[in-house]
Amino acid sequence: MPRHLENQVVLVTGAARRIGRAIALRAAAEGAQVAIHYHHSEADARQTADECGAKLFQADLTQVSEIQRLYREIESAYGRLDCLVNNAARYQQMNVLEVTEDDWDSIHDINLKAVFFSCQSAAKLMLKGTGGHIVNISSLGGIRPWTGHVPYCASKAGVIHMTRALAKALAPKISVNTVAPGVIHFGPDMPPKIQHLVSVTPMKRPGTGEEIADAVTHFLTATKFITGQLLSVDGGLSQRA
Ligand SMILES: NC(=O)c1ccc[n+]([C@@H]2O[C@H](COP(=O)([O-])OP(=O)(O)OC[C@H]3O[C@@H](n4cnc5c(N)ncnc54)[C@H](OP(=O)(O)O)[C@@H]3O)[C@@H](O)[C@H]2O)c1
Repeated sequence: MPRHLENQVVLVTGAARRIGRAIALRAAAEGAQVAIHYHHSEADARQTADECGAKLFQADLTQVSEIQRLYREIESAYGRLDCLVNNAARYQQMNVLEVTEDDWDSIHDINLKAVFFSCQSAAKLMLKGTGGHIVNISSLGGIRPWTGHVPYCASKAGVIHMTRALAKALAPKISVNTVAPGVIHFGPDMPPKIQHLVSVTPMKRPGTGEEIADAVTHFLTATKFITGQLLSVDGGLSQRA
């Protein structure tokens, strides 16, 4: 089997658990040198890194100074960066009439601001070499409006449009694309709201981390002529009337 990311340096943010872990494991299986970023989940991150033969990097991505430190550490560890997957995010239900400024910032600092400054630092490092590929993980919530998640939806819609703007701004050496997951479930118990979403998903099941990793790998290994694109991996839920 050909390994499509042989020797490529691939940074995955929020890679300790769940979707980020699946993306990291897949990149490693494709031959990449994977850099695992985590914030609080050190034990899980160490487990994922051991399985990937990867190095570990800790940073709070809501702080731009921390993002810049992370990329200095990546440069010292590998001397270059070929691929970035901005996966780290925060998802929280909020009553629209009760959202505070701190609530808004807590979502946007990680879901949107961090993605921008991570792309900026990654691009500077990639442009010291031959360029690279960036994939930003957005969400079905950036396409469809969810009443209980207005700040989250705004942040993810921002990720989708920012991806398009960055694709133009960072061409021709860097491609920037986005994968929008639908309902991706982990663990045995499915809350009633998630059960409802699954029941109205045309494919009648939740997606898996591996299915998101497939879409991410597609963009990381595709021609850079594919840029600024959104790929929904949601079992058809975004197409529902
Ligand atoms: N799961 C779904 O159904 C679904 C649906 C649509 C979109 N998505 C998107 O897919 C991506 C992954 O989803 P998920 O459910 O696997 O994610 P998740 O578990 O909610 O979060 C991923 C990671 O983000 C990291 N993170 C949060 N705040 C951070 C901060 N301030 N600095 C650095 N890292 C931070 C956390 O790292 P630590 O654990 O190390 O603290 C966390 O493990 C996200 O972008 C999410 O919005 C998921």
